[in-house]
Amino acid sequence: MTSFILNEQLVRTEEHPGMVVLEFVRDVKCLSGTKEACREGECGACTVLVGSRQPDGSVAYKACASCLLPLGDVDGCHVVTVEGLSGADLTLVQQLIVEHSASQCGFCTPGIVLSLTAFALGDKKLSYEGAVNALDGNICRCTGYVAIRNAARALCESLARIDAAPAKRLGEIVSAGIVPAYFKEIPARLAQLKAEPAATGKDAVLVAGGTDLFVQKPEQLMESELCFLSKRSDLDYVTADWNFLRVGGAVTIEEFRLSEPVRKYFPALEGDFLLHSSAILRNKATLAGNIVNASPIGDATIILLALDARLVITGAGSQREVPLAKFYLGYKKTDLACGELVSEIVIPLLPKGARYHFEKVSNRATLDIAAVNSAVRVTTAPDGVITDLRLSAGGVGAVPLLLNLDSFKGRKVDAATIEALAKAAESEAKPIDDIRGSAAYKKLLLGQLVCAHFTRAAAAGEAV
Ligand SMILES: Cc1cc2nc3c(=O)[nH]c(=O)nc-3n(C[C@H](O)[C@H](O)[C@H](O)COP(=O)(O)OP(=O)(O)OC[C@H]3O[C@@H](n4cnc5c(N)ncnc54)[C@H](O)[C@@H]3O)c2cc1C
Ligand code: FES
Ligand code: FES
Repeated sequence: MTSFILNEQLVRTEEHPGMVVLEFVRDVKCLSGTKEACREGECGACTVLVGSRQPDGSVAYKACASCLLPLGDVDGCHVVTVEGLSGADLTLVQQLIVEHSASQCGFCTPGIVLSLTAFALGDKKLSYEGAVNALDGNICRCTGYVAIRNAARALCESLARIDAAPAKRLGEIVSAGIVPAYFKEIPARLAQLKAEPAATGKDAVLVAGGTDLFVQKPEQLMESELCFLSKRSDLDYVTADWNFLRVGGAVTIEEFRLSEPVRKYFPALEGDFLLHSSAILRNKATLAGNIVNASPIGDATIILLALDARLVITGAGSQREVPLAKFYLGYKKTDLACGELVSEIVIPLLPKGARYHFEKVSNRATLDIAAVNSAVRVTTAPDGVITDLRLSAGGVGAVPLLLNLDSFKGRKVDAATIEALAKAAESEAKPIDDIRGSAAYKKLLLGQLVCAHFTRAAAAGEAV
């Protein structure tokens, strides 16, 4: 049984927990405001709000793509479709969309309204830049983004007048006409809901964010027992001690990106992870899911390889640690046995004298898998001599690669070294021709990314 609040209504359903919310709201509940288009997380037309109960009893709302969001994942949550924002008047976001002519055919508009509403409910800074980022998964094919951004800017101007302190936020957002008054009762109503615990069957499929699984095999998942890692609060943490950042196996990319330890020890990752998919996917997609799906081009994987991450792998009554660099055994093959899960990712803090940098080339800046991506962690002595070098590359082999560049240790970072590094990287790469580019193009690209690691970081004042 899955129990949740859909808009104002309590829902208890025996539908399979692998049925996606998009199908449930449209076909079972006949709420057609949530639009169906790509069904692959690409367009944002199906965006809904998911509010989940926090340890302090408050409810945190995120915008999510409902086409990749299984019912089991919203057990115990508040799901809001555009119908759930309806009252006697338009909400402030809807009103601003009208005033700024930010809708033509209207197909994308419910998704845009919900993404901006999630931004108003939860964003810490409420800046215009944050509002634009919140919309990075919502594609509009007829209005043009200038009008939509103008509406977003006007929303930020209105939000500048509210008291955004967490204790007052919801009341202020209701008073500003952004969500209806019934939202105030949701924390108490959710406290009465009893969610099912995560399934423990040894054959249960582990579902983290589901953003890969529900693209690859949605029908198969409707016939499987599913273990939702979002129910495992013991795997939901980002902490730092003297030497390591520790990330639980259920932490989403967005939680990781915006966490205090990441901001403190790896500030560049906040921007780098903006290049991973889009807000409506990052709110569900996890770091561990990115690693385990074993894509040769996963962005998190490539970053974590350069950062020398290790995986804590937990099975029935056992625990072991594996360096990420040894985790991939072949194309889409990992060192993970049946019944094991990645319970923690351990990232060493940057050693003294070390710099990190990430580069990704894709057809679109956001919402796109890379053609080639690469990250570097290079440590130099005060005289500029390389003492340690970890350079990773994606899209140029069957698995995410950590290049063997040990021979560069002891060399000074200068133009000749960078050129030689680029050539060495190109010669280690074994890309194939595919939809993202020819093998020759990808080799060349990797060489250029290696140069960019050093020159761009230097231009940004982080001279390596
Ligand atoms: C539109 C779109 C855009 C995308 N853009 C990007 C992009 O820019 N960059 C990128 O790298 N990827 C991208 N992806 C791919 C995907 O979203 C990510 O790789 C994501 O991080 C996968 O994580 P998840 O939690 O959703 O995994 P899931 O789909 O939940 O799981 C993936 C696999 O990992 C297993 N698994 C998950 N967690 C664990 C665990 N803790 N222990 C053991 N096994 C586990 C699952 O059983 C499953 O086999 C995109 C996907 C879509 C649909
Ligand atoms: S239908 Fe396109 S993102 Fe869900
Ligand atoms: S208004 Fe038509 S797709 Fe956006």
